[in-house]
Amino acid sequence: MTIQQMPGTDRAETERLRGRIADTLERARRRTIGLTECVDEAELVAQHSRIMSPLVWDLAHIGNQEELWLVRDVGGREPVRQDIDHLYDAFKHARADRPALPLLDPAQARDYVGTVREKVWDVLERSPLRGGDLVEGGFAFGMIAQHEQQHDETMLATHQLRTGEAVLSAPPTPAATATVTGEVVVPAGEFSMGTDTDPWALDNERPAHPVHVDAFAIDAAPVTNEQFLAFLDDGGYERPELWSERGWAHRVEAGLTAPQFWEQDGGGRWWRRTFGAMQPLRTHQPVVHVCWFEAEAYANWAGKRLPTEAEWEKAARFDPATGRSRRYPWGDGDPTAALANLGQHHLEPADIGAYPAGASPLGVHQLIGDVWEWTASGFDPYPGFRAFPYREYSEVFYGGDYKVLRGGSFGADQVAARGTFRNWDHPIRRQIFSGFRLARSLTADDL
Ligand SMILES: [Fe+2]
Repeated sequence: MTIQQMPGTDRAETERLRGRIADTLERARRRTIGLTECVDEAELVAQHSRIMSPLVWDLAHIGNQEELWLVRDVGGREPVRQDIDHLYDAFKHARADRPALPLLDPAQARDYVGTVREKVWDVLERSPLRGGDLVEGGFAFGMIAQHEQQHDETMLATHQLRTGEAVLSAPPTPAATATVTGEVVVPAGEFSMGTDTDPWALDNERPAHPVHVDAFAIDAAPVTNEQFLAFLDDGGYERPELWSERGWAHRVEAGLTAPQFWEQDGGGRWWRRTFGAMQPLRTHQPVVHVCWFEAEAYANWAGKRLPTEAEWEKAARFDPATGRSRRYPWGDGDPTAALANLGQHHLEPADIGAYPAGASPLGVHQLIGDVWEWTASGFDPYPGFRAFPYREYSEVFYGGDYKVLRGGSFGADQVAARGTFRNWDHPIRRQIFSGFRLARSLTADDL
């Protein structure tokens, strides 16, 4: 390449990035609209569960974060609605208290997010997309697209909690085309965890750093409904010895007897309620809507354990042929419909064996998409962590009562699901699309 060609090449590169940002923001907005237009005004302002916000709060909060970061900060523009900032500050009001706030009504919220987005198109058009950490590589735009998609997933969880007729629909998941059973041995050694190079990776995924992991075995697939039912049928919910002390206390207090949304009919047959529709339990589908304590008890029953976060990431990203860490189990390319069940293209996890093309080099399946997978690890910073662009994204949660989940669910968009992406929640939560897979340390016999 000659020096004369470079500015043109650079310009083309920047325009491609601008186009990708616009597509990503539009994809998020189409989903937000889809999730908020299928219910009436009363349902938008109602609180469907005390642990969730009214949908209309999520909607205006999406617009407010977009205004704060893209209109005011990146764009340097006048505020649109500074007077409502405090209403949509997630740190100022707990979810349970949000319905009582003087929130924008649905029509006002729609107007507001539309006005903000119009200004963002103008900001995007004028941004050089380089120079300064916030706009370099379009980071702030990517961060806001991830934020909207994460709230869309939260709104999808609210839809799962609401009662009444089904209002969402999607095509069925693809059928299994591979038989996936047993476990995969991941060899001992160092691998590179986290990232320095993914331009839209969030602060908690950085920096890339070497981690030594002892040899371990990990299940080739997440735990299925059928497997979880065997635990249940074996008295799993009545045997305190299978649960940690805290887990059992929660089991008793919350009255847990099965994964959330499971129901047994008079004939003893199990059903699962999914977005307002009842379906017979699908045996080879990953179990979903279990809390960390249920995952822990199941692991004890099975004589295994949950993988640590480092083990999970090594199983997902480590390529033994090259020694490097991939962006995704299948390589560095973005997810497609053939590789992973992401983006709410389906409304449930797919059967085990439905995504053979998405397997890792070592042969671990469905790490990305389907269900978020609980890990054994708490949420802590990587060595060399630097809060960016604000402490409230990750730093204030470090060391709290959280467990890390990895991999993304059918309700996570690809912009917020990658091999390094970290999610975290309280160990009692299960309204999220959470499942798990098992691991174990190798014994002298294995080695
Ligand atoms: Fe938020």
